Amino acid sequence: MSITVTPVESGFGAEVSGLDLRQPLNHDTYAAIEAALSKHGVIYFRNQPLTEAEQEAFIRWFGPPNALARQMNNARMKNPYFYDVSNVDEEGKIMMEDHERRLYLKANMFWHTDMSMRQPPARVTALNAIVLPEIDPPDTEFADMRAAWEALPPERQKTLESLRVVHSVYASRSKVGYTNFNEETRKLLPPTEHPLVRTHAGSGRKNLYIGAHASHIVDMDEAAGRALLEELTEFSTQPQFRYAHKWQPQDLLVWDDSCTLHRSTPFDDQKFRRELRWCSARELEAV
Ligand SMILES: [Fe+2]
Repeated sequence: MSITVTPVESGFGAEVSGLDLRQPLNHDTYAAIEAALSKHGVIYFRNQPLTEAEQEAFIRWFGPPNALARQMNNARMKNPYFYDVSNVDEEGKIMMEDHERRLYLKANMFWHTDMSMRQPPARVTALNAIVLPEIDPPDTEFADMRAAWEALPPERQKTLESLRVVHSVYASRSKVGYTNFNEETRKLLPPTEHPLVRTHAGSGRKNLYIGAHASHIVDMDEAAGRALLEELTEFSTQPQFRYAHKWQPQDLLVWDDSCTLHRSTPFDDQKFRRELRWCSARELEAV
């Protein structure tokens, strides 16, 4: 199979074509996909109506899949590696405004990187579009954390490089008023720490590792740390660092969590169904 990589104008984001991902990959094709992902941060494949097994086989090329905590409002998904990113309840009906999972998923509208509350965190995420609103499907937006880091003045970079950040799912969910975690989940998901500045494995470029799960800075006054994280998020998600993905049905959207932030955007979720199937591969080691 020969693949074609077509970058978007800025170079942050690219379409990869020439592949039917229902067929098994081989090492050369995987290497070409990994190289495109490393270079462009976000890639998408059109017309990929994948089964769960096919999507799982794809993500396994990038690393071990992340198993999810079963308590996390995910009743429709039987496979422990998939998260139900939808506005549909356990019975297949559009969730009412006060549905618990609707509130939980609202936190995805904050800039974040997947699983940064875990150790090791996600490295690559793959999201398959099963059902989209017929009118105005909402974009998923991305921000390029390598370009943002490189745009900071060198003297500012120096003050940031040695900092460490506490990440926690309770920090991100409290922003939307969700606190209903049971004891088992709290044990499974203790707060964790990551460096503020990481080096991207594929490109060797440094980047900011922040987002909504980032709660505060180690050894810094909590309010001051929060303010610093907010300032860096605002800086690094400016329009010049962004790519907005315009969804089509059956898209497979794949992104590098180790050098990007993303967020969902609003749509009329009381009128239209939107069903996406999420899975991710984790880093091999703690970072
Ligand atoms: Fe996400």
